[in-house]
Amino acid sequence: MTAEDTSDEAEDLIDPISELPGFDETESRIAVHGHPIHAMSVAFPVALTFCVLGADALYWWTGDSFWARAALWAAGTGFLFGMLAGVSGTAELLLVPGIRSRAPAWTHFIIAVTLLSLLGANWGYRLYGYETAVLPYGILLSGLCVVVVGFTGWHGGKLVFDYRLGTSKGS
Ligand code: HEM
Repeated sequence: MTAEDTSDEAEDLIDPISELPGFDETESRIAVHGHPIHAMSVAFPVALTFCVLGADALYWWTGDSFWARAALWAAGTGFLFGMLAGVSGTAELLLVPGIRSRAPAWTHFIIAVTLLSLLGANWGYRLYGYETAVLPYGILLSGLCVVVVGFTGWHGGKLVFDYRLGTSKGS
């Protein structure tokens, strides 16, 4: 068998996933006039997750209880906005056939659910004493949340800019 025959055979192979109905339908359905709600809503949990770590660090530095209270509020709102972003993302994942059939979209779902569990834990832990919660476990949890939110956001960006999920693929 020559190298040419092998490359011809490789060209004949068909990825069964790409044969699924609607594989090329990747345009967002959970959108306002074509603007995906998920992409618009993720900015809030991402920013608030960073705010919790910042407020924890300022509490550690100053000892001012204001920062521990700010961290409690940022953790709670970050978690709730994260859940809202998760709902829009999950609806997109389940309703759009081209997104549903691609493995990276499910990888993003798993990373995001891990993140939401951590954000919920970071908020819930503080509800039983927001000042005593900060050192050491609160701030450690906030640091972990920042790492995981960074990874989630980076991976979400890959879905859009590498796989073009949620987009109309240009015209
Ligand atoms: C929990 C379930 C989630 C699912 C199923 C999900 C699914 C998706 C999908 C399908 C996309 C592609 C764009 C689109 O179709 O709108 C996307 C993009 C993205 N996701 Fe998620 N997502 C989830 C949660 C999250 C969370 C909690 C965050 C961060 C806090 C996040 C951050 C991002 C980012 C930053 C993008 C790129 C947006 C852009 O650059 O336009 N996702 N996600």
